[in-house]
Amino acid sequence: MAFTFRDFPVAADDLRSDVLAGLAACPKSIPPKYFYDEAGCRLFEAICAQPEYALCRTERALMASRLPDIAAAVGPLDCIVEPGAGECSKVRLLLDALQPAHLVVLDIAGAPLAAAAQALAHAYPQLAVTALGMDFIRDLEAAAPCLPPGRRLIYYPGSSIGNFAPDTATALLARFRRLAGADGRLLIGFDLKKDPLLLHAAYNDAAGITAAFNLNLLERLNRELDADFDPTRFRHYAFYNPVAGRIEMHLVSLAAQTVSVAGRRFHFALGETLHTEHSYKFRRDEFSTIAGNAGWKLVDDWEQQGFAVQLYG
Ligand code: AVJ
Repeated sequence: MAFTFRDFPVAADDLRSDVLAGLAACPKSIPPKYFYDEAGCRLFEAICAQPEYALCRTERALMASRLPDIAAAVGPLDCIVEPGAGECSKVRLLLDALQPAHLVVLDIAGAPLAAAAQALAHAYPQLAVTALGMDFIRDLEAAAPCLPPGRRLIYYPGSSIGNFAPDTATALLARFRRLAGADGRLLIGFDLKKDPLLLHAAYNDAAGITAAFNLNLLERLNRELDADFDPTRFRHYAFYNPVAGRIEMHLVSLAAQTVSVAGRRFHFALGETLHTEHSYKFRRDEFSTIAGNAGWKLVDDWEQQGFAVQLYG
């Protein structure tokens, strides 16, 4: 087995400057990439097991049932690149079907990524695995020198692209286009527009796991930025905004309060929100337009129970 890990220091400074800027803005907001500390990664896995949150399950079922089609449409490959690979569990199906020589996985949570990627390298002795602990939203281009030559597939599953507003999504997909190279491909999974009550329920699970995931951000800031948020004084509030076509996730202040973060003080009025995530939902044609604007041409697409996987070249 061949395994390489490179840690690009996801500067503690970035968290600090992004959070201070977000708390100074109006409305207050924090980028969703900061959900994923160790507890956040675990809570996200737990969300995927909730009955109301079908996204991960449906994507897995779609990939499993359409795998022969998908593999045939992708064609021969040298390398799979997966930004935001997390547990590295989704890519296994593709490795089995496509048997590339190289896998490059990227994630902002470097330590869990390294552990998962090493386990993968053990399980696939023929595969050269490179794990890059990096904030690819900021540093994607730094991955280019770590990629082997040959034909590449960028794999971006899980509706991660839904975290970006359409313009920003187009910009990220255009950067994927450059990383993939002229004969490169993109296999991307995203959640489809559907009954808003179903979407609402998916981000308001009865067990309260999504609420815990959202509130964990405050615990992280308490620990890593020496903040003094009282999580009991904020309410997880998530809803589907059909005008914008997205789930919005907020932490709403239950009182007038002042919080200190990294030595600065921030006031929350009663009812003021800290916006933590957008999760855009698309129609298939809507998404093709976004990807088309980024220079990708639709090759094939698959749909199952409100979730889509599309292949671009
Ligand atoms: C990982 C971005 C796809 O938006 O559905 C789950 C994250 N947030 N529940 C999503 C999430 C709340 C998830 N993505």
